Amino acid sequence: MSQAVTSGAKVSLTGIKPTGEPHLGNLIGAIRPALRLAEDYDSVYFIADYHALTSVRDPEELRQYTRSVAATWLAAGLDPKRTTFYVQSDVPEIFELNWVLSCMTGKGLMNRAHAYKAARDRNVEAGEDPDAGVNMGLYNYPILMAVDILIMESDVVPVGRDQLQHVEYAADIAGSFNHVYGKRYSFKIPEAIIPDDGNSQTLPGLDGRKMSKSYDNTIPLFLPEKKLLKLVRRIPTDSTPVEEPKDPNSSAPFQILEQFASEAHADVVADTRKRLEAGGMGWGELKNVLFEVLNAELAPLRERYEALMEPGSELDTVLTEGAHQARERAQRVLSSVREAIGLTGVAR
Ligand code: TRP
Repeated sequence: MSQAVTSGAKVSLTGIKPTGEPHLGNLIGAIRPALRLAEDYDSVYFIADYHALTSVRDPEELRQYTRSVAATWLAAGLDPKRTTFYVQSDVPEIFELNWVLSCMTGKGLMNRAHAYKAARDRNVEAGEDPDAGVNMGLYNYPILMAVDILIMESDVVPVGRDQLQHVEYAADIAGSFNHVYGKRYSFKIPEAIIPDDGNSQTLPGLDGRKMSKSYDNTIPLFLPEKKLLKLVRRIPTDSTPVEEPKDPNSSAPFQILEQFASEAHADVVADTRKRLEAGGMGWGELKNVLFEVLNAELAPLRERYEALMEPGSELDTVLTEGAHQARERAQRVLSSVREAIGLTGVAR
């Protein structure tokens, strides 16, 4: 059974789309903040494989990314005793509520969704039919996401800025439902929280732009040492000579160091900043420091990750147990909804 944070605690929920190998930006921008929230909230985190299906077409790839994302969160410290952790498609109740909420959501709302509009704009620009390559999964994506959020009675949803509209849609959809059925059942109205708000720093990637899978400039989390070192050497720097003072705040390797290093390496970060500002420390040496810190902190995670990725590892047990817990929560909400809207419930 779940020994989740005290019952009555607020619920924090987020979904992770398994569409790529986890990278440093995911760890810093999503995983760590969500794990911090898990200390104070009743946390519900899941792998959004149904959402990935709007774009992933290779079954092996989908399976691999799903396991890999799950193993990454566990390796990074997610405690399944404290957090309800599951794969979305293991919870069929989500699918049932998806239909119900589809029937209560205006088509116009979906027409205005950013991701769908962006796909249309790209098509129009390319002289194609506006809906070329748009599947109904992409179109309905925000409804499924609203279901994820509402079926777990979420209070807060930690997400990146790009997902803000989706959470607002979930609140809208909940509002429409409550307006009609509120006397019988009301969804909780969720609120987005953007964990890195207030932190104006973006994490630079291998080309100096924001680290992102879509720029293909990421540092994957679980590289063998040699490959990690090679990538660190590729991070761009300018041609300031070794002896000259340097500005750490405009240096990509230093930014990565500062944002990544945990308390355990705070002194290394402070010392490196001083040495750069004073002059005498070259970019090559800075990159060595960055590699050492990355490697020292990632090595234990890599080891746990690799063990979890072995077939038949603890990962399967964790996800099976997580699915049970998630279904229990979802069934409670779903049966209230069925009753509120007039589905007979004879079969139950
Ligand atoms: N759409 C989110 C993303 O692309 C993933 C996601 C699916 C999600 N369902 C969710 C996030 C529910 C928060 C809550 O990253």
